[in-house]
Amino acid sequence: MSKESAMPNFATMERIRGICARNRHVQAPSIKMLKTQKQLDGIRRAGEINAKVLDAVEPYVKEGVSTEELDRIVAERTKALGGICAPFHYEGFPKHVCTSINEVVCHGIPDPHRILKNGDIINVDCTTIYKGYYGDASRMYCIGEVNDDWRRLVEVTKQSVEKAVRLAQPWATFGDFGHAIDRMARENGFSVVREIGGHGCGVDFHEDPWVPHFGSPNAGQLIVPGMSFTIEPMINMGTHRVTEDAEDGWTIRTEDGQPSAQWEYHLIITETGNEIISR
Ligand code: MF3
Ligand code: CO
Ligand code: CO
Repeated sequence: MSKESAMPNFATMERIRGICARNRHVQAPSIKMLKTQKQLDGIRRAGEINAKVLDAVEPYVKEGVSTEELDRIVAERTKALGGICAPFHYEGFPKHVCTSINEVVCHGIPDPHRILKNGDIINVDCTTIYKGYYGDASRMYCIGEVNDDWRRLVEVTKQSVEKAVRLAQPWATFGDFGHAIDRMARENGFSVVREIGGHGCGVDFHEDPWVPHFGSPNAGQLIVPGMSFTIEPMINMGTHRVTEDAEDGWTIRTEDGQPSAQWEYHLIITETGNEIISR
C-alpha cells in the first residue's frame, strides 16, 4: 500500500485557495485527503471486493437466520476473495461485520442468539481490506412484513443518501449534501443522528474528514477531486439522540427505543463528478 499524498496541481491549489478566501465557512482539504491515482485504483478495487461480500451475504438475510451466521458468511466470503474483514479486532470489535437491528443505530455485534424475525429491519455493514486499501459500505433489509412506517424510514434513508451523492460534486461542500439529508429526514418526520458521521476512507478505515449528515449549504469541507469518503446517514424515527451500550462498549441504540435506518455509500471524487465504489 502506498501512503504518499497526491500533490495537487497548481490550478487545483489556486482554485481551493480562491474558494476558501471568498467564503470563510468553507474548509480546504488537507494534503492527506487527496489520494494519488495509484491509491484511488487500490481503493476502487477494495470497494468492488467489499460489494461482492455484501452481495454474497444478501441471500442469507432472511427470517430465522442468526446474525452470527451472517458474520460467518462475511468472514468466509471475504477470505475467499482474498480480503480481510476490517472490523475484526478493530479497537477490540469482536466480529467481522456490524449487524444493527431495529433500535440499534450502528455497530451491532453479531450474536448466535439474535435470530432475524418477521418485521425486523437490519443494517449489514461490511468493510474489506484488499491489498492494503479499504472499502466500506452498508445496506438495509426488511425481514418479512415490515410495518409501513418502518419501511418508509428505510426508503427515505436510502433516498437521502442517493440525493447526497448527487450533491457531492467536486467544488461543492459537505454542508450542501448534509443539509439535504437533514431536510429530507425532517420533512418525513424523522431525525438525523448527529454524534456519528461518515469519514474519509481508503488508505485507513477511518480517516479525516468527518462527514456530518447535517449542515448548511456553502459551508463545511470543500469537496475536491481525489477525495475518498463515505456518506452513511443514520436516520431515526423518533429522537436523534443515541446511547452506547455500557456493557459491550459498541452497540449504539436510539435513546427512545424507536427504530433507526442507515445506508452507507463509499465515494471517490473525480474531476467531473463522483463514483460510488462500494455498492
Ligand atoms: N463500518 C463502520 C463505519 O461505517 C465502522 C464499524 S467499526 C466496527 O464506519 F469496529 F464496529 F466494526
Ligand atoms: Co463507514
Ligand atoms: Co461501514
